[in-house]
Amino acid sequence: MDVSEAIQKRANIRKWKPASVEKEKIEKVLEAGRRAPSWGNVQPWRFIVIQDRGKIAELAKAAGGQPQVAAAPVLILCCGLTEAFSRKMHRESLKQLIEAGVMNWPDEVLDNRVLGSDLTAPYRLGEQVMMIRAGEQIMISIAYMTLEAFNQDLGSCWVGAISPRDAREIMNLPDALFVHDFFLLGYPDENPKPRPRKELSKIAFWEKYE
Ligand SMILES: Cc1cc2nc3c(=O)[nH]c(=O)nc-3n(C[C@H](O)[C@H](O)[C@H](O)COP(=O)(O)O)c2cc1C
Repeated sequence: MDVSEAIQKRANIRKWKPASVEKEKIEKVLEAGRRAPSWGNVQPWRFIVIQDRGKIAELAKAAGGQPQVAAAPVLILCCGLTEAFSRKMHRESLKQLIEAGVMNWPDEVLDNRVLGSDLTAPYRLGEQVMMIRAGEQIMISIAYMTLEAFNQDLGSCWVGAISPRDAREIMNLPDALFVHDFFLLGYPDENPKPRPRKELSKIAFWEKYE
């Protein structure tokens, strides 16, 4: 499918057929998440695929009982590595880019200029900023997954209204991981029209804002 077509036609799905989703399709969706871009290529996302009905029902409570969660055939718990933007992990990701020939920074530039600047190194601004930055990257990967799900004739639902703390407890996750969103997959049992959007002229401007 054409990317433009997927962008125009995809819609958030909240009604599912009971059919389970083929593993190959779930893998295609995860692969789209894997290919998403991220700051410094840190790839902070970690995805936990859940199909166990009991676990999904428990997690639905962490989403305030939203009915489409409990009914979803697949729930992907979209998590992040707490330390992804630590100096050490950010440096490792950048080193990989340097080794791949993307940049040719000598260590002196990497350590002093890039990892030594508040603009380019989130760890310098503290843990809260590191987590916000990691969360942003996870959302990019979910956006990619929404399009691949559509391409696989699957419906998807992005669920951000959750208690990450409750979800962590239910899943007994280690401190190294934080929960950011739920991402639901299944065969759609509805065919919604594209939802309304603001006119392009209200949100995009040429040369100056007016
Ligand atoms: C970050 C984020 C969080 C969202 N959280 C929820 C949610 O908790 N429950 C839900 O039903 N939809 C949720 N949505 C879906 C939006 O409501 C939906 O994308 C929006 O209304 C536009 O509709 P569309 O995706 O069909 O174009 C979320 C979407 C995003 C991007």
